[in-house]
Amino acid sequence: MLRAGGLCVTAPRVVVVGSLNTDRVLSVASLPARGETVPCRGEAVAQGGKGANQAAAAAVLGLDTVFVGAVGDDLDGDAGVAELERMGVDVGQVQRVAAATGKATIAVDPEGANFVIVYPGANGALDPAHVRQAVARSAAPGTTVLASLEIPLDAVVAASVAAREAGASFVLNPAPARMLPDELLSACDVLVPNEVELAQIQTAPERLFALGVGALVVTRGKEGAELVRPRCPALLVPALPVDARDTTGAGDAFVAAFCVARTLGLDLEASCRFAVVAGSLSTTGAGARGHLPSRSEVERSVGGRLPGSPAPSAEPRAAGG
Ligand code: RIB
Repeated sequence: MLRAGGLCVTAPRVVVVGSLNTDRVLSVASLPARGETVPCRGEAVAQGGKGANQAAAAAVLGLDTVFVGAVGDDLDGDAGVAELERMGVDVGQVQRVAAATGKATIAVDPEGANFVIVYPGANGALDPAHVRQAVARSAAPGTTVLASLEIPLDAVVAASVAAREAGASFVLNPAPARMLPDELLSACDVLVPNEVELAQIQTAPERLFALGVGALVVTRGKEGAELVRPRCPALLVPALPVDARDTTGAGDAFVAAFCVARTLGLDLEASCRFAVVAGSLSTTGAGARGHLPSRSEVERSVGGRLPGSPAPSAEPRAAGG
């Protein structure tokens, strides 16, 4: 236990810096091609945003979780924050800004494939100075700070700097992808892109490792995830065969579970195995948080328990179904 700025900080926790959105989910028979109009079979409103999804997934996996992000001073912001709080996330570092809460429109086909269009709104106004202070207050050695890219790049850099100063690990999920400054890449202990994002970063693994990235974990959808380390052969961790209903948020569930496993002391390979199972299971519910698996559910499929796992009766309830 450490004390920072009057706040008690327990080190084994995940601090998630990222977006919070209200998702409008449209079910379609097939995803539209460019210029095509398709009918919608049903619609639903759900809580989303890559950062908020990651924080929710980490909390459901039973780890102390803090969310750092920005919402508008509106009903969507209230609902998004209240839902995170209900799931056990510490929302004390959420900034209220004078912009509408972020929104995403998501079309999903019967196979669970999707496309996503995001209106950043308040996410785009997240203040780097707020992020730096919030991460400094929340992180300590033993903490993992996880960031994604639906917020200003300066805010992500601020999170990486504060993580480094606090002696915490820094994991970057470069989604949605963009070119990244060397300063940010060299602060990454682990970079977790999907295969499309890896191509969009336009930086070869050898250069990432030369800059100081410790490991690369590339999510490959139905195939699973590939762990790439310097001077080691790449390792493909296969996905769990499941009946996928909606792949929205699978990458969020994956990276959250990876950070939980790392924070609890698992090595890179074991953390990938834990995360692949969590990501696979998350596709069995509708919406980005339709099925966030509990720790025991993931452990049952992996065939082992995480260090310090609580007895099944003591763990938090899984969200969705
Ligand atoms: O990763 C899925 C998320 O991407 C959705 O919840 C949507 O809000 C977008 O941020």
